[in-house]
Formats: sequence, structure tokens, C-alpha cells
Amino acid sequence: MKHLLGVKELDTATIKSILKEAFYFKKQVEKKDPKLSTLLKNDVVANVFFEPSTRTRVSFEIAAKKLGASVINVLAESSSIVKGETIFDTLLNLEAMGVDLFILRHNQSGMPHYLSKYLKTPVINAGDGSHEHPTQALLDLMTIVEYKKNLKNLKVVIVGDILHSRVARSNIFCLSKFVSQVTLCSLPTLIPKGFSELDVSISYNLQESVKDADIIMVLRLQKERHEQNDIPSIKEYIKYCQLNEKLKFPKDALIMHPGPVNRNVEMSDGLYHSSQSVVLSQVRNGLPMRMALISRFLNKDHKKIKTKKLTAYDG
Ligand code: CP
Repeated sequence: MKHLLGVKELDTATIKSILKEAFYFKKQVEKKDPKLSTLLKNDVVANVFFEPSTRTRVSFEIAAKKLGASVINVLAESSSIVKGETIFDTLLNLEAMGVDLFILRHNQSGMPHYLSKYLKTPVINAGDGSHEHPTQALLDLMTIVEYKKNLKNLKVVIVGDILHSRVARSNIFCLSKFVSQVTLCSLPTLIPKGFSELDVSISYNLQESVKDADIIMVLRLQKERHEQNDIPSIKEYIKYCQLNEKLKFPKDALIMHPGPVNRNVEMSDGLYHSSQSVVLSQVRNGLPMRMALISRFLNKDHKKIKTKKLTAYDG
């Protein structure tokens, strides 16, 4: 793997290996393994974020620091981008300073793909426009594996603003390799036409979709990416797409959300704080998942990591 640009490019075997490595790092962090902080002591990781982020940026920073790397944060608003420098030149300059790995978020779909063609340094896509957010999908899969012991027969419902969601795209590419059914549920204006050709079912009826769901993945309503007529109104969106206590779904269904949450818009506060919600487990798993990915790119001894079988995949 030269870069990690999307889940679409990852085969099933690679995803399984990454998951196993993430569980390895989770365990080592819990055990406070002192060797972790020496693994990347000469490496520099650059968090280059041209769009706001809390979870992704901070967990990449903590992950890199736990592995002993130095971390620099380059944010658009405090960089020479505001003086007119292109992002391409910004990254070339950072590369010239000796950055070993770029973590890149940008509001334009395809920006990490474009830049990676011209850089010698590996790039991890930390979210590009409405296109992909591969590390989110991988940590989501890790969370599902933790709670559900067998992936094969699971029904996953992804509900909400699918049109603007890179999380939805990456999860569709990832989950459709492992679970029996992925259903997309939203208003017709929020499901891209071409998605009917993917390995998913499409529904416009939330109650019907969730009644036998094992996983309900709720997406953020991305108002900042909306055009005028994407939704009739927030009230109408809530009526058809909000996950709340009025709906009937299995008591053991997991409720997931990538964050940030618009409280009481895409999901009721009650369900957000319910025992079925694994939102903060997703956040917790972001750390070992990102440690595993950083290690893949920078740790010379990465291949020596001894991982364990995962019953959710391997039986
Ligand atoms: N889930 C996620 O990408 O959150 P941030 O935008 O806060 O990084």
C-alpha cells in the first residue's frame, strides 16, 4: 500500500489484516506497552487539515504520538494558503522539510488522489469532500466486530444524508464485502441515483428498514454541503429520517454515528445516550485503528506484528 486513499481500493484480505493489527494496537495500548513509544521516534507525521475536524485530527495526532512520532498540524487558516500558496506547493514544501506521512483532509473530492500522484511521501485520506473517509469506515467495522461476533448474517441500515456523506460511501464499499445486506434509507433527494448500481438496497421508509436491522448507522445532516432544494425543511427531514423512540427496531441493534452529531436532528438525544448507542466506542477505536495504519506506513518492523484470529471473519 503506497497510500490509503479509499476503501474502494482495498481488498478483503487487506481490510482483515488492518483490523487485526488495530486490535493488536488496542491491546498494547491497554497494556501500556513501553515499546510503542519508541517505534517511530525519528518520524514526522503531518496532519494537513483544510476542513474542520475534531475526532479524526486529534485521534491521528494521539495515535502518532503514542507510536513516538513527532506531529505537526497544518491548518488552512493559519498557513500560507491564505497568502495564495497552492495546497500542492504547501505539501511539496512540507515534504522538503522531511515529513514522512501526510494525513490529509480537504473539502474537494479527489484532492488526496490528485496530490498523491506528485508526492513521494505516503498520504492517508482523512476525508475528501463527499467522496471517501476510509479510516472512519475501518474503525466502524472494528466497532461492529467488537459487538457482533459474526458479520456474515448482519443487516446494516445507513440512514440520513447519504448524498453528501463520505462516511456512507466508504462504509458501503467496506461493509458490502462482509455483511449480508446494506440498506440505504433517506429522502429520495438525498440518495444519489447511481447508488442503485452498488451492492445495496434502497428504501424511503425508515420504519420498514430498521424493523429487523442489526446495525443502524445514522449520518450527520451536512447542512454546509446542501444546495437549496436538497431537503424541504429540517422539520420534514426529522419526520422521515430521524432515528427516535417512536420507531420499532431490535433491542440488540447497534446505533452508530460517525460524529459530529446534530442533536435531535438525525437522532433523538434519548437514543444517542441509550445503551444501544456505540458512538463513543467508535471514537475510542479511532485511536488503535489509526495507530495500525500509521504503523503500516512507517514502522519498519510492522510485518513482525503477531495478530490473532478474528472469529467474526474467520469462524
Ligand atoms: N467523524 C469525523 O470525521 O469527525 P471529525 O470531522 O470531527 O473528524
